[in-house]
Amino acid sequence: MTEKEDLLSMCKRRGFLWRSAEIYGGEAGFYDYGHLGAKLLDSWKQIWKDFFLGLDENYHMIYTNNIMPYSVMEASGHVDHFSDIMIKCKSCDSYFRGDHLIEEETGENAEWMGKEDMKEKIEELNLSCPDCGGNFSEPEDFNMMFNVSLGPTGEKKGFLRPETAQGTYINFRREYRALRKQMPMGLATIGSAFRNEISPRQIVFRKREFLQAELQIFFVPGIHDEKFERKYQEIEDMKVNLKRVSWDESKEVELKNIDDLPPFYLYHLGKMYEFYTDVMELSSKDIRFRELSEDERAFYNKIHFDLEVDFDTLNGWKEVSGLHYRSDYDLKQHQEKSNQSLSVSTDEGKKIPHVIELSFGIDRNFWSLLDRGYKEKDRDWLDLPKKVAPRQVAVFPLVRKDGLPEKSREVFEKLRSDFRVSWEKSGSIGKRYARNDEVGTPYCITVDYDTLEKESVTIRDVETTEQIRVEIKELDDVLEKLIEGRKKFKDYLEQED
Ligand code: GAP
Repeated sequence: MTEKEDLLSMCKRRGFLWRSAEIYGGEAGFYDYGHLGAKLLDSWKQIWKDFFLGLDENYHMIYTNNIMPYSVMEASGHVDHFSDIMIKCKSCDSYFRGDHLIEEETGENAEWMGKEDMKEKIEELNLSCPDCGGNFSEPEDFNMMFNVSLGPTGEKKGFLRPETAQGTYINFRREYRALRKQMPMGLATIGSAFRNEISPRQIVFRKREFLQAELQIFFVPGIHDEKFERKYQEIEDMKVNLKRVSWDESKEVELKNIDDLPPFYLYHLGKMYEFYTDVMELSSKDIRFRELSEDERAFYNKIHFDLEVDFDTLNGWKEVSGLHYRSDYDLKQHQEKSNQSLSVSTDEGKKIPHVIELSFGIDRNFWSLLDRGYKEKDRDWLDLPKKVAPRQVAVFPLVRKDGLPEKSREVFEKLRSDFRVSWEKSGSIGKRYARNDEVGTPYCITVDYDTLEKESVTIRDVETTEQIRVEIKELDDVLEKLIEGRKKFKDYLEQED
């Protein structure tokens, strides 16, 4: 069982992440990523792009602005609806999210509650302020968007975007034309989102500035169903852990046995699941898709399943991404408010495309890799997919004399352009292994006296700590095969026997 404090301490010591503005005492809801954290984020973004843009030749990346004009967020419904319910302590003026206090007391999800339900529940549970014991005021709505004023007079208003999605919707028409009017069309974006969370908490889990990777897929139901049906056939035998609204527990089900969800939805659900098991290499016992009830869903969603991970450090199942069927809600709203046509021509006349959205919180996915990968049994080590490890290879001289540092530097230079690699000579060899085990470096290469004679080095595997000897001229090839997963370490061990 990994403790939150142990993992956070490793993250701070080794350069993954820590509170923003730490030297000024920090600010709730803001974290910065250090040199290893940044590499892990970048490699996660890369595997995400490779996997999801690879699903269809008409899925593409775009980049849009962090600041959204008032008109965009008004049309999207965020000005009126993007709020959480806040309760205030009458004695000390502290603010809380009512649903969080109820959840902490009962252990049950309270996100679905409206103001009236919340008021009743708080009274029934006799909840008081966790800071001072004072009584609470009436629950009230709090809009979570950050306002920004544009220009020197500040007259024009805008918002920091609370989701990357809206930037994509307002660029739909341009891209549809630029991409020669092909549908379905997928537009993905990666970037920051901002929410003035009432009670930021759980490390990077509820931040006020966070990262999202979102893929919006535009299609016309009935017209583009055939393409999705064909794709769905590729994965209909796949088994996924699912928790439906009406079920008490999650069950493993074959996609083809789910008959009330459309193929276009199931196809992307299956692919998201595959991303978690095959690319992020999480165990299927640690992930599930949970269906959200109508009360829990955002105002724009018709079907909504969250991908949840069973975290050690965050007390169990928590959402890390979601699959949303937003119907034609967004484009309809933007068409109406902008007075610009966002419809597409079909054999059946003009239609407004529908959207399914694959929405990932990058910070939460980052934390799931650390939480699920961190092992603290006989030694501390981090089990990361080799493709995303922030450092894939570390090169050391066995001792700091007799030409070994210079030779190890040569090996390091040889590998630098193909792998994320470090060169280290400080501390004993044992300490260098321990430092690298802790940050999940899959392979440590040691240059020793045999290297000088035989032009060969040892490679140590983080998982087993076993070692193989490899000629320097074959090093690139061996490492590439191991990291790409085309060969296993034990294959090379067996070869040596
Ligand atoms: N465009 C849809 C959308 O934004 P969401 O469920 O509100 O949907 C998507 O957010 C993902 O963003 C979540 O699954 C979560 O991983 C991440 N996320 C949301 N709020 C967050 C926060 N305050 N801090 C960190 N990640 C957050």
